[in-house]
Amino acid sequence: MVTIIMNASVLNEQGMQEVKHIILEDGVIKTLLDGHIEVANLQLEASEVVDAKGKLVTPGFIDMHVHLREPGFEHKETIESGSRSAAKGGFTTIACMPNTRPVTDHPDVIKLVLEKACEAGIVKVLPYAAITKNELGRELTDFAALKEAGAIGFTDDGVGVQSAQMMKDAMYKAAALDMPVIAHCEDNSLVVGACVAEGDFANRHGLKGIPNESEAIHVGRDILLAEATGVHYHVCHVSTEQSVRLIRQAKAIGIHVTAEVCPHHLLLSEQDIPGLDANWKMNPPLRSPRDVEACIEGLLDGTLDMIVTDHAPHSADEKAKGMELAPFGIVGFETAFPLLYTKFVATGLWDLSLLVQRMTADPAKVFGLNTGQLVEGSPADLTMIDLEAEREVNPEEFVSKGHNTPFTGWKLKGWPVTTWVNGNIVWSE
Ligand code: DOR
Ligand code: ZN
Ligand code: ZN
Repeated sequence: MVTIIMNASVLNEQGMQEVKHIILEDGVIKTLLDGHIEVANLQLEASEVVDAKGKLVTPGFIDMHVHLREPGFEHKETIESGSRSAAKGGFTTIACMPNTRPVTDHPDVIKLVLEKACEAGIVKVLPYAAITKNELGRELTDFAALKEAGAIGFTDDGVGVQSAQMMKDAMYKAAALDMPVIAHCEDNSLVVGACVAEGDFANRHGLKGIPNESEAIHVGRDILLAEATGVHYHVCHVSTEQSVRLIRQAKAIGIHVTAEVCPHHLLLSEQDIPGLDANWKMNPPLRSPRDVEACIEGLLDGTLDMIVTDHAPHSADEKAKGMELAPFGIVGFETAFPLLYTKFVATGLWDLSLLVQRMTADPAKVFGLNTGQLVEGSPADLTMIDLEAEREVNPEEFVSKGHNTPFTGWKLKGWPVTTWVNGNIVWSE
């Protein structure tokens, strides 16, 4: 199968380039042709010709932190609905968290996830396995068997690993298998039942607040453990100034630590929460404007390596339980790029290439993935984006089963319009 994408503005690590013909063949980017060629012959051969005039074509986005909910919570999302939502958002590779039911703590669950993803046949789904059985923090899983089954790393996302000894053992085992440990950083002794961050909003509503240290204490602890064990340690959804500082210092002295940040932690603070609406409730919570600034700085200087969505769909019923009782989490796939493009790139604050790199080449490098590049010979995972058309965020239009977003009604540009995985169109507007 041959596809020709014509007249694209291509953005890859080499910069922006006008490309007359991108030729995809057998799932691979075969050629980027700039000059004039005998198009007529090529078009005869091509099973698909797409005109990308006026659109941006980038490597497909990579999201290394998502919740697909299957098995066990199919009313919130399935591997198929989540994959489709990802494709609509321009993502071609996603890494899913193990807090399903059963938890992905056994090779059979890894195999099930991979099978379902293959059946859906939409985007590339890479499963993480749990660090501890049932994510209870009591007993390590069988890392070697989970790796063998296809796990790409170990994490108890959803909860922090409370015991330093448990985390250290996990890191030794992961390092021996050349696998990363990915950490949801949260010290439970500093949280106990809070649903929003410490700050004005919590005070005004008489709510107990989640303090910054509950995250940063784990980051600091784990950096020391990573230094001791030599593991690749990756910090989930960084949200505090203190975590950014600790990661920056650790990187400066050569400890193998990497980190991610979510769009909502770059765009919103606790000061923006309009009221007791659980669509503004996620973990880690929206923090202070100062923390937001620190996360932005961290992303710009490379302390934070990549953008992830932490796509966390929940049903409307669950979210209607109110700020204190509703589960944590917001959906992310279908708004991530337009949000960041509109608020940071279209405003002139960031280079477009920085945003694209943090969503493509950078996560690929950190996790050693064979994608994230738009060059000859790489897998034909591509995203075509309309940078001009403006649209309002309307959760009713999401293809995710989750409609839980704080961004309803935001007017955004930069909507992905077509997504290719291995040369096949998996989403088209
Ligand atoms: O907001 C969150 N949602 N944070 C988490 O740690 C878990 C996730 C979920 O699974 O819903
Ligand atoms: Zn988490
Ligand atoms: Zn998560």
